[in-house]
Amino acid sequence: MDQKAIKQLVARAAVDRLVRSGMKLGLGTGSTAIPAVYYIGELMQKGVLQNILAVPTSFQTVIACEQWGIPLYTLNSKEIGGELDLTIDGADEVDPQNRCTKGGGGALLVEKIVAYASKSYAIVVDETKVVEHLGLKFSIPVEVIPEARVPVERALEALGAEVQLREAVRKAGPVITEHANLLLDIRFPAPMDPEELESRINQIPGVVENGLFTRKHPRLFIGHANGSVEQRE
Ligand code: 5RP
Repeated sequence: MDQKAIKQLVARAAVDRLVRSGMKLGLGTGSTAIPAVYYIGELMQKGVLQNILAVPTSFQTVIACEQWGIPLYTLNSKEIGGELDLTIDGADEVDPQNRCTKGGGGALLVEKIVAYASKSYAIVVDETKVVEHLGLKFSIPVEVIPEARVPVERALEALGAEVQLREAVRKAGPVITEHANLLLDIRFPAPMDPEELESRINQIPGVVENGLFTRKHPRLFIGHANGSVEQRE
């Protein structure tokens, strides 16, 4: 199976196993989460799923929900009341303890708010995302207030990170997030403690959020090239 087919397979498997009518859902961002959104839309149109209320994590997800007629709310809507039944999202890396890094698509801020406001959390990935240690192969994004870029860069370097400002495609300047911030992509030359790092990075003045997700233990769905879907609690 090619990677696109694996992503669709794992996204659909998670929806079939976890999504039920009447749920308040957090919907993720990226090329693995969006097929889950489309599939939920398809099941709603067929009448298999009813009364779904969705909170999107990015403009990409908003558009996908609009295309499929999935009713959109925010965490603050009275119908949602600040808590979701389930969130389904993708990840950039997952480690053996189901901790993950996210934000390759730049949506980590709302993705983390939505994840941490969910009673149940599911991550859907293809097998290429499974690693022994987070942050060695794929960078961890840090969302930063523009005015704090250089001091935050220095503070991250002091933690041992190599830091790169995320540039827009074709180098047309820096990437600006949906909340008008910058992204610093950081990488570590050796394994680090993800829990400690998630907290320490967020203590730096000017940091809005970082892409380490260590405190919300997800149910993990891993799609394999042989067509199987592995579930890891
Ligand atoms: C976006 C994310 C995505 O979930 C993550 O980058 C994985 O994306 P994909 O499924 O396209 O590989 O965190 O901010």
